[in-house]
Amino acid sequence: MPEISGNIKGIKNFVLNDLQKLYDFQVDKSQLVSVELCLEIARLTQEINREISVFLDRSGKVEAVNVGDSNTVNLPNLNSRRGTTRLNGYRCLHTHPDGNSNLSSVDISALKLNRLDAMIAIGVVQNIEQSELSFALLTGIDEHDDFLVGIFGPAALTEAEQIFFPNLVATVEKSIAKNNGTNLADGHERAIIVSLEYQGMGDMLGWTMEDSLEELKQLADTAGAEVVGRFMQKRPKPDPAFYIGQGKVHDLALYAQANEVDLCIFDDELSPAQQRNIEEALGIHVIDRTGLILDIFAQRARTNEGKLQVELAQLQYMLPRIMGKGLSLSRLGGGIGTRGAGETKLELDRRHIRDRIAYIKTCIEKVKGVRDLHRAGRAKANVPTVGIVGYTNAGKSTLLNTLTNSDIYAMDQLFATLDPTSRQLNLPNNQEAVLTDTVGFIQRLPHQLVAAFRSTLEDTIEADLLLHVIDVSHPLYEEQSRAVYKVLEEINVKDKPIITVYNKIDKLPDNSNLAEQLAKEENTICISAKKGLNMDNLLKLIAEKVKSKSLEADFYVPYADSSMVAKLHQIGNVTNEEYLEDCTKVHATIPVMFEEQFKKYIK
Ligand code: GTP
Repeated sequence: MPEISGNIKGIKNFVLNDLQKLYDFQVDKSQLVSVELCLEIARLTQEINREISVFLDRSGKVEAVNVGDSNTVNLPNLNSRRGTTRLNGYRCLHTHPDGNSNLSSVDISALKLNRLDAMIAIGVVQNIEQSELSFALLTGIDEHDDFLVGIFGPAALTEAEQIFFPNLVATVEKSIAKNNGTNLADGHERAIIVSLEYQGMGDMLGWTMEDSLEELKQLADTAGAEVVGRFMQKRPKPDPAFYIGQGKVHDLALYAQANEVDLCIFDDELSPAQQRNIEEALGIHVIDRTGLILDIFAQRARTNEGKLQVELAQLQYMLPRIMGKGLSLSRLGGGIGTRGAGETKLELDRRHIRDRIAYIKTCIEKVKGVRDLHRAGRAKANVPTVGIVGYTNAGKSTLLNTLTNSDIYAMDQLFATLDPTSRQLNLPNNQEAVLTDTVGFIQRLPHQLVAAFRSTLEDTIEADLLLHVIDVSHPLYEEQSRAVYKVLEEINVKDKPIITVYNKIDKLPDNSNLAEQLAKEENTICISAKKGLNMDNLLKLIAEKVKSKSLEADFYVPYADSSMVAKLHQIGNVTNEEYLEDCTKVHATIPVMFEEQFKKYIK
């Protein structure tokens, strides 16, 4: 008969009997723990007021039972699997009689030393059903060859029971194998991309499913994944549980196994339940278009505000996915979809998430207040503002750089620019404007992002003039242009003067007359931001459009007020000056805010 090891001195026989019966428990192999087993060891812990540890193997069978505090727990001589990247195939479920489920340093060292699948601690409280558990997993190996540990919880026992264990172990082993605990994506995750065509799927603005999937591939590239397979499925409507249907998910699972796929990306938004079901069936990490875009945004955010906005959107997106039926732990190994803004790893504990969301909201309000002040300052100074909008990769940053001789990050990757960047723009006739570059738009921009970026886009919304940059060399430039108008509509930008800027004309084939044709349209210009082609005309066009912000007139300034002539030079653009009998006649363009002050000199 298997033994009860550890400190069993003084334990009554009937309790020993019950301890012995723990060997009869069988946890389903899909589960991390069962509530039934947890409650039983919690009850026995209350009985003897000592820690109890139970070791489970991968099939959910109890292999060893031990009594005593962590220091005295002797790990049974488990027939462990060896190999540096492998876990030993056993997890330890144990109790803390003091009611606190936090893992002790002894728990963590036992986890590392024995390469356990998991170290799980139940904090046993008076009403045992209200006990909670926390658990720790090895999530990778650091540069000193030490294991990295991820701690999760506390979670209610009923919630912990829902955790899908095989997926968890697979992710952890993979993460250890990659020898990099913080960022799986460094090793290029192998991804498959999947789309579903169904009736009533919403206006695709002329995009085909292939176009959309191709764009998803580019997004995946941008996020650092290697796309090794694409799947398209048609159904009358999405399957509520498995989105593309259980049969198709089964096919994907076979493909994923055969091709060592780490990640499956859906070209649509999945409900938290669909995502979890598919994840469980595939045993790999599943993300949707929104999750992918959020991940890219997190990598790209540079300014404090950008980082805050992205983290907020990420947390709001994660919350229902963590709160649902179980903790969605497939994310714990790192990689695409788990990366926070900057160096951080996304918070996975839902209690902390709520606090963090509240905290970030207050920070954003503060930053926004400062930006509002800047904008108000500019409005007061009457400097016209010009916002650059356009599909991602259209060349917005390049244009801003060329026009203002600055050095903004321009890369042939989607969403290279995330944070609004404002630069002073010198226009012909000494006029000035502020030019703002914004986040790239995209078809089906996830609504969380529209909301999250509304404040970032405020500079655009408030701009006096928009430059809509279009990559005319892109085969889908018309569709991309429509997608931009749709986003503008969504953020309520209407009736604003727009100059359509067809960019990258240098990439058009020599025999193409597209540029000439397009240039015939009103308020349209064809340029190459990279080669600096047609910039002068663009500047002239901008100057013309923003002119209304200034006043051009002849000012007849009496000699007695000659200091005002000096002021006209200071604030405006003086193009002519004549000395008449009793006054100076100055032809100047001045900001309208000075109209009141100078209007008495206009005849
Ligand atoms: P997001 O930040 O993703 O929204 O991109 P963006 O619109 O700011 O584009 P960006 O300026 O980063 O340019 C994208 C790519 O297009 C870069 O590789 C640029 O070098 C390239 N590019 C921009 N303008 C031109 C152009 O006029 N001609 C050519 N050939 N390439 C260009």
